[in-house]
Formats: sequence, C-alpha cells, structure tokens
Amino acid sequence: MQNFINWIDARIPMTRVWNMHLAQYPAPKNFNFWYFFGFIATIVLVNQIVTGIWLTMSYNPTAEGAFASIEYIMRDVEYGYVLRYMHSTGASAFFFVVYMHMFRGMLYGSYQKPRELLWLFGMFIFLALMAEAFMGYLLPWGQMSYWGAQVIISLFGAIPIIGDDITLWIRGDYVISGATLNRFFALHVIALPLVLVILVFLHIVALHEVGSNNPDGIDTKKKKGSIPDDEKPKFKFHEYYTDKKDIVDSIPFFPYVVLKDLVAFTIFLLVFCYIMFFAPEMGGYFIEAPNFEPADPMVTPDHIAPVWYFTPFYAILRAVPHKLLGVIAMFAAIVMLALLPWIDRGKVRSIRYRCEAHKWNIVMFAVCFLALMKLGADPADYLNRVLSRIFGFGYFAFFGFLWLYSGNEKTKPVPERIA
Ligand code: HEM
Repeated sequence: MQNFINWIDARIPMTRVWNMHLAQYPAPKNFNFWYFFGFIATIVLVNQIVTGIWLTMSYNPTAEGAFASIEYIMRDVEYGYVLRYMHSTGASAFFFVVYMHMFRGMLYGSYQKPRELLWLFGMFIFLALMAEAFMGYLLPWGQMSYWGAQVIISLFGAIPIIGDDITLWIRGDYVISGATLNRFFALHVIALPLVLVILVFLHIVALHEVGSNNPDGIDTKKKKGSIPDDEKPKFKFHEYYTDKKDIVDSIPFFPYVVLKDLVAFTIFLLVFCYIMFFAPEMGGYFIEAPNFEPADPMVTPDHIAPVWYFTPFYAILRAVPHKLLGVIAMFAAIVMLALLPWIDRGKVRSIRYRCEAHKWNIVMFAVCFLALMKLGADPADYLNRVLSRIFGFGYFAFFGFLWLYSGNEKTKPVPERIA
C-alpha cells in the first residue's frame, strides 16, 4: 500500500494536499457548534447530487410526462420514494444549514478582513443555490411549481423597456410550457450543480489561504512561534504543522475536528431521517399541498407562496406597493448581505467583544428575518402588509445601524490567545 501511495505521490501531490487541507489543517481549538454547518452543508450538497442523479434516471422532463413520472418514482421505482424525499428534504435542509452557516459568519465577523472574498464566494453560492432550488421546484410540474414559476419569472417583466423580452427569453415561450421545463431541467441537473461545486471549491481554497476564523475572532495565523510543549496535541500527526507552520492555538483537523463534526452529523442525520420518513411535507412548508395536483394553466391556486426559504425575500417584495421598486428591494436585501465586509467598519470581529448595540442589532436582524419568513408564507392581507413593512424596515435598518456605530465602536479587549 505504501509503495502504491509513494508511486502516486511522485506524480501528483496527493498526500501533501490531503495533509495540508484535511488531515493536518490547523483548526482553531475553540470551534463551537456554529462551526458544524460548513461540513454539514458539504454533506447535503453530496446528497443532493447523488439522489438527483438517481431521480433523473426515472424522471421525464416534458410537460406531458413530468407529473406522472414523479408519481411513478413515488409508487413504482424501487426505493423511489426514499430518493425523492431525500432530495426534497435535502433542499430544505440545505437552506436551513446555509442560513445557520451565514448567521455564524455574522456573529463572529467571519466576513471581515481578510475573509471578504471567502464571504463573497459564499454569497455567490447562496445565489446559485436559490436559482438551483427555484428551477428544481418547477420539475414536478404541480400547480405550485407552475404558478410559483409564473410569479417569479413575471417579476423580470418589471424591468423597464427590456422586461417583457427578458421574460420571453427565460420562458422560451409566451407562457410557461414544456420548453421552459426542458431548459430548467438542463440548468437544474448539470449547469448549476457544476457552478455550485466550483464555487464551493473556491470557497474552501479562499478559507484555507487565510485560515479559519473562530468564536473569539482571534487571528491564530498571526501568532508565530511553536506551540508550548504542554499544549501540543497528543495525536501523532501534530508534528507536521506545529513544527513547520508555527501556528499556536490550533489543533489538527483530524482527528479532533472530524470527530466533533461526526457527532454533529449523526444528530443532523437523526433529525433529517425523522423528517424524511415521518413528515416529508412538513405541514406544507417543504412540499406544498397544491403540488399534489398537476399543473393547470387555466386554474390559479387560491394562495401562491414560495417554499419557506424564499419567503423572507418574498415578504420584502410584497411589502412594496410598486412592482419594480419591490423587485429592487428584494434584490437589495441580498446585496446588503454581500456588502457586509464593507458596511461593518468594526475593528473587532466576534460579537463577544463588540459593543452592546451590536448585540441588540444582531438580535433585531434575526427577529426581522424570521418574522418576514412567516409573513411571506401567509396570505398578504392588510395586517400582513403593514407588518412586512415594519420588519422589512428593521431588516435594512440593521445594516444602517451597523455602519453607523461600527465606525467608532467601544469594544472589549480581545485576548491575545485563545483561552
Ligand atoms: C454549499 C454551500 C456552502 C458550503 C458547502 C460551505 C462550506 C464551508 C466549509 C466546509 C467551511 C469551513 C467549516 C466551517 O467554518 O463551517 C466554510 C466556512 C465559511 N463559509 Fe461556507 N459554505 C457554503 C455556503 C456559504 C455561504 C452562503 C456563506 C456566506 C455568504 C459562507 C461563508 C463562509 C465563511 C465566512 C466561512 C469562514 C467562517 C469562519 O472561519 O469563521 N459559506 N464554508
């Protein structure tokens, strides 16, 4: 075996890359549960790709056959229902995990210098993920697939002058039809997954270039000098990076972080399987009731709402009475997140050492986001619209407040080393 590995190592840097980026990657020793979500997101990405490939084997991407082929997968294909529910539950799990992952970045200032590009790659992943989920949702060709796509594609019609041409170009037809389904299928099964995988690769390259942040926001890479003998990890791989890389306050990714991640993964798997086997529709939040009826262009469902992970942005869209301004507000809500590294002028990263106002501001952001999530899923009556405006205002106010107080913030002293 060793001879074989040596043979490969003489030709490509397999062991070196494995050690540098996985086994011996120096991880800050104070990672907490918020740091599980990157690993879990990677697992969910693999789940989506693998189950997606198998679903594609029995799925029929035509307006005539799509709905029936999903029924066929659910009833006749061996374990087809498991594949489908792994994929549909996986989509919601993906967004839950990514939202937690992004919120961790906000809590610990992981977007601040030198991780701006890492954050931006993350935001591109988020955009690609939203496009991927939106296109996947059309594929079952149910009522909500059809009418949800109708609502979202028609938003592009709000763009002045070229809006109508753009909607026509996206649909490939004057209405949503088999042509639309076919192109969404192509984008969903190959184009966007490819983009996602490339972006995740760049995300990890960017992370490993600058090193991981941590719950204290301490720069572990800046501290030169060997790890004191009594602090050295006991695992035999430690020599590689402690002696060569001069990184204190870090532990090797394997076995320390891997074992913690596996515990988190086990718990995630328990919850995931429970939902998948006992509540795959999740009361209509994961798979909406109208999607059990085939798409009918002549009958509009009573209440059209996107899946839960889009509803915060959908609520912002609906809160603005003017269509074009609503679309702009919705996109601005995402762009603001991407601009966080420049909006936050703070010198200290972690919420632990930042001013009191910052803590309240982050709580306000989380409350507004969750409230908008609920409001976007409910019918837009008068009260809903008023509340959406209030919480939508709160969402944007977070960024304004952050810019204001972070310029001259009274922070607590950040420790020199991780305790
Ligand atoms: C497919 C989706 C994604 C995958 C597979 C992924 C994967 C990862 C992994 C494995 C890590 C290292 C482990 C960890 O810190 O949890 C990481 C770190 C990070 N990710 Fe992601 N990520 C994804 C999406 C995002 C998004 C949408 C953002 C934000 C816009 C983001 C921002 C970050 C940041 C800032 C870090 C460094 C955190 C720190 O060191 O404190 N990621 N990501």
